[in-house]
Amino acid sequence: MTHNVTDTPLWQKLSDHHREVASTHLRELFDTDPNRGTDLALTAADLYIDYSKHRVTRETLGLLLDLARAAGVEERRDAMFAGAHINTSEDRAVLHTALRMPPEGELIVDGQNVIAEVHAVLRRMGEFTDRVRSGEWRGATGKRIDTVVNIGIGGSDLGPAMVCRALRHYADGPDVRFVSNIDPTDLLSTLTDLDPASTLFVVVSKTFSTLETMTNAAAARRWVTEALGDDAVPQHFVAVSTDEERVAAFGINRASTFGFWDWVGGRYSVGSAVGLAVMAAIGRDRFAEFLDGFHQLDEHFRTAPLESNAPVLLGLLGVWYGSFFGCDSRAVLPYSHDLARFPAYLQQLTMESNGKSVRADGTPVGAATGEVFWGEPGTNGQHAFHQLLHQGTRLIPVDFLGFAQPLADLPTLDGVGSMHGVLTANMLAQSKVLAFGKTADEIAAEGTETELIPHKVMPGNRPSTTILGTRLTPSALGQLIALYEHQVFVQGVVWGIDSFDQWGVELGKTSALELGPALGDPDSPAAVGDSSTDELINEYRRARDG
Ligand code: F6P
Repeated sequence: MTHNVTDTPLWQKLSDHHREVASTHLRELFDTDPNRGTDLALTAADLYIDYSKHRVTRETLGLLLDLARAAGVEERRDAMFAGAHINTSEDRAVLHTALRMPPEGELIVDGQNVIAEVHAVLRRMGEFTDRVRSGEWRGATGKRIDTVVNIGIGGSDLGPAMVCRALRHYADGPDVRFVSNIDPTDLLSTLTDLDPASTLFVVVSKTFSTLETMTNAAAARRWVTEALGDDAVPQHFVAVSTDEERVAAFGINRASTFGFWDWVGGRYSVGSAVGLAVMAAIGRDRFAEFLDGFHQLDEHFRTAPLESNAPVLLGLLGVWYGSFFGCDSRAVLPYSHDLARFPAYLQQLTMESNGKSVRADGTPVGAATGEVFWGEPGTNGQHAFHQLLHQGTRLIPVDFLGFAQPLADLPTLDGVGSMHGVLTANMLAQSKVLAFGKTADEIAAEGTETELIPHKVMPGNRPSTTILGTRLTPSALGQLIALYEHQVFVQGVVWGIDSFDQWGVELGKTSALELGPALGDPDSPAAVGDSSTDELINEYRRARDG
C-alpha cells in the first residue's frame, strides 16, 4: 500500500488507458454492450444508482478499482470507522459515522464509548426539542416559542439549513430560520417580523469563537435583552458547541448547551447536535430516521465489495474526470425543489475537504484534486446553464438526483399527466441527450437548413450519474449525504490528502481582522502593504464618507 499512487506505474497505466478510450463515444459504448444500462447500475440502501452513462469501459472501472486498492481505500476506511486519528494534521479521529450508529453499538475511542456519549446527547436534544415543540418551553414573558433562529456559519449553518429546506414537507414544529453572514442585512431581515418574546436562538459553533457567529449572536442577544431584559437570555438562547467554557461566558446555561466532539468535522456535523434546529422542526423520531439513513449508507460503504460500492465507484469516477480528463467541476442537479440547497451544502463538503495541494505528508500532490461542485434544481437549470452542458467546450460530469414518488403533485396542463411525472421525464431526457446527442446527419434528415446544422448538432458524450430514490424521506436524505461524504473520503485517499483539515481558510480570517481597523477608523493609516488593497481602502472610505 502506498499513499502516493499518483507516482506509481498504475497511475501511468490509467493515464495511457485514458488516451486510448477518451475519444470513444457513449453511443459506441452502449451499441457494443447491450447490457450496459443494467450492469453498470447498483442499489445502495434505497438509492438506485445508474453510472452507465460514464466515459468508461469495464477495463477502466477495473483499473480505477485497482487504484483504490493500491491507495489503501479499504484500510483507510476501516481506520476511519475504528476511530484512528486519520486527520493527521490536527491529530484527530474522524468519526461522523459514530453519530449515526444505533444505541446498542459500542466504539471505544481514547478510552470512551463514543456511542453512549452520542446517544446521551441525542436524548437531551430530544427532551429539549419536545419541550419547544409542545409549548412547554416558554419565553421569558411566558409566550410559546414560535420561531427558532439558528445562528452559525459553514458546517454550523449549511447542514441544518439544507436539511430543514429538504425536509420541509415533514416540518410540524416551530418556524426555523437561519442567520450566517456577517452582513448585517442577514440578521436584520431575519428578525424584522419576529417577536423577541416568542423567538429562540440556537447559537451553533464548534469553536464558539467564529467571528460571524459570535457577532450575530451578540447582536441577537442585544435584540432580546433590549426588549425583555438581561434575565431573558437563558429562555431565549441555547448553544451547540464543543467549548462549554466559551458558551458559559456568553451567558448560556450548561443545561441548554448541547455538546459534540473534536472528532466531528464542521462539514460532517449535521447528524450531531448541530442538527438541533432540524430536530426542532421535524421532531426526534424523524431525526432518528434521518440518522438511520446515514447509517444504512455507512454500512454499505463499510461492507460492500469495492466493485459494487457506490461511494467508491462514484468517488473514483470523480478522480477519473478530475485527474485524467482535466474536468474542473461536477454539476449536481436535484430534480427535487426541496433539495435546492443541496449543491451549496456539497460545496463545503467537497471543496473544504479536498481543495488541497499537498499530501498528508506535506509533499505536493501529484494530480489535480478537489472537484468544484455547483448546481441548481432542475428544471430551472435547463433554462439557465444547460446550454453550456450540452454544447459548450467544457466537459462537466453531472449528477442527476430524483425521486419516483412525489411528496405533493398537481395535474399537467392537459390534465392527463402529473407535474412530478414531467419533472422526472425532464431529468431522464437531460441525461439521455447529454450522453447520446444528435448528429449532423440526423439533423439534416429532418430537413434543417444546411447553415443551421452546425448550430443544432448535439455532440453528446457528456457523462452523468443518475441517482433515483423512492421518495425524499429523512432516511433518503441521510443516505444521499453519506453517499457524498464517502465519495469525498475515497478521493482524498486516492490523492493522498488529509480531507479533514481546512488550514486554507485561516489566513483570510486573520487578514480580515487586521484590515478591520483600517476600514473603520479614519485616523488609522490605510497603508496595509500592497497598493491595490490600500487604494481600495481609500476608495471605500471616500465613498462611505461622501
Ligand atoms: O472557516 C471554516 C470553518 O472552520 C468550517 O470548517 C466550519 O464549518 C465553520 O468555519 C464554522 O466553524 P464553527 O462551527 O467553529 O463556528
